[in-house]
Amino acid sequence: MLTSYLTDAHSIEVQALEQMRLAPRLAGDREMAAAFREHFAETEEHERLVREELERRDAAPSMIKDVAGRAGGWGMMLFARMNPDTPGKLAMHAYSYEHMELAAYELLRRFAEHEGDERARALAERIGASERSMADRIASHWDGAVEASLAAKDAQDLGKEVVKYLRDAHALEAQALQMLGTDPGFEALAAVFREHRDETEEHQRLVDERLDALGAHPSRFQAGAMRMSAMNLAGFFKAQPDTPAKLAGFAYAFEALETGAYELLMRTARRAGDEETAAMAERILADEQRAAERVAGTWDAAVEAALRVRAD
Ligand SMILES: [Fe+2]
Ligand SMILES: [Fe+2]
Ligand SMILES: [Fe+2]
Repeated sequence: MLTSYLTDAHSIEVQALEQMRLAPRLAGDREMAAAFREHFAETEEHERLVREELERRDAAPSMIKDVAGRAGGWGMMLFARMNPDTPGKLAMHAYSYEHMELAAYELLRRFAEHEGDERARALAERIGASERSMADRIASHWDGAVEASLAAKDAQDLGKEVVKYLRDAHALEAQALQMLGTDPGFEALAAVFREHRDETEEHQRLVDERLDALGAHPSRFQAGAMRMSAMNLAGFFKAQPDTPAKLAGFAYAFEALETGAYELLMRTARRAGDEETAAMAERILADEQRAAERVAGTWDAAVEAALRVRAD
């Protein structure tokens, strides 16, 4: 199991390297670009450390190279298709990705503890800290990301931008409802899902209310596309033997994605002078952050559940 999680971590780092290679050029903001460049070097180090650990375990090279197949287990279907068309979207997806990496190492550390493997435990702790600090760096540059996004747009169209972000938020909440409707297979996360499902329904109502007030509607096509990818996701997770841990990791990254979306919406609305939308975004944002923390509170239970599934 530990080797399998190391292999997952390796594929996550390989994909991260690809992203960090491109990200500085798309960042649009000098400080954000510098953060991405710095994290490219860190990611190279992560990839090397995890690969060496796999080699020490005599993991088959084919297993190490099998990136495409294994990356899917971490919800890559969602992230691989991400097509950040603005510096803001890039920051939001990168923020979510760092949380997914952090989740992967939090879980890996616990599997290593379970197996009494001190070297793997220390590795997971060290890389996890690096992912957390990158997530924090991204979070300290939301203003720059929004500024860069709006600079690339017609400044007169601020109102239209707010509507676009609201539509994105509607689609994200629809996908959240799908995710929260799945059975994670262990009670700790199921309880978090139940609680956040009620909040999520409220979020979608609030977002739709703002769209209404601005004379707009949710984009039906986009919401439909997102729903479909969530359904595929559920199907995929069902096929995974250690779904509980991976679903917890995915949920954590998803809440971070929503957090990023509302960070962007709040700032864009403020610039557009739309205080009501900004206040709504700020309120939902706090819920998403709390939901992410609650998911993080289930790591121990997630690992226990994954170990139980494997023992059956
Ligand atoms: Fe990494
Ligand atoms: Fe990272
Ligand atoms: Fe959420």
